[in-house]
Amino acid sequence: MQHLVDVDNFTLDEIDKILDDAKSFKTKLPPKLLSDKLIITLFFEASTRTRSSFEVAAKRLGASIVHLDPGKSSTKKGETLEDTFANLAAMGPNGVILRHSQNDTAEILANMELTPIINAGTGNYAHPTQALLDLFTIKEHFNNNLDNKKIAIVGDIVNSRVASSSIRLFKKVGLDLTLVAPKEFMPKSNLKSTDKLEDVLDSVDTIISLRAQLERHKKPIFEDYNQYAKHYCITEDMISNRDLAIMHPGPVMRNIDISDEVLSSEKSLVLKQVTNGVFVRMAILKHLLLDCNAN
Ligand code: CP
Repeated sequence: MQHLVDVDNFTLDEIDKILDDAKSFKTKLPPKLLSDKLIITLFFEASTRTRSSFEVAAKRLGASIVHLDPGKSSTKKGETLEDTFANLAAMGPNGVILRHSQNDTAEILANMELTPIINAGTGNYAHPTQALLDLFTIKEHFNNNLDNKKIAIVGDIVNSRVASSSIRLFKKVGLDLTLVAPKEFMPKSNLKSTDKLEDVLDSVDTIISLRAQLERHKKPIFEDYNQYAKHYCITEDMISNRDLAIMHPGPVMRNIDISDEVLSSEKSLVLKQVTNGVFVRMAILKHLLLDCNAN
């Protein structure tokens, strides 16, 4: 049974195939390849993009989708996550899409081997579908040529599951990475790093900005994010006439992560990331629910 707990579940060949499928789906919508499939979503944390994107992707492929709202489920009566999952799996879905605040939940449920688990974001550890759609967007922006492309990841890296999965994926495909953050947001890493955005502006091709993951801070880290923004917000002044692509997984904290002007400029790929997310998730669903079960 093939799961997607994190990007390491896929080989480079599988990643290439998924990104190729996503590109072809973006050019021409495929037939309803998953019309006999049923998917359940189980989101214990809020989501705008990922949940809707998975639903659109599933429907575009003809799959049925059922959402369980944990806030109105029997987890409120003390049912464990494992029991909730086992009961959903007993209904015979072809996969469960999970978002949860704890890092190891996708792996724990995957190890039960009841139905494929697709990780839609767990703790600060993994958000593999976001990393894959970000890689797709970078490849698309650079016409499929990643040679010598340099990426800076800027912001609350240590608390970001997007950064965590992206670092693993981008290393795997050989992208040059620099981490940019104040010490409070910098993870332990052997990657290049700096606390000054100015250090990388002339050398990178793409900046991936991240919001402060306030919901994961045990106590407030910065009292005033306007002060933080003076150093880390991506503004027109900062970019000047440089040829930079600006990305962000969302939700964007406007004028703290990225200024309004940059967000609405041609340099921003932020809504392209969302558009691409549907095609990449279609390709991931096809891979896990169809291709991996072909034999
Ligand atoms: N990028 C992302 O995970 O957004 P949502 O939290 O809205 O799903």
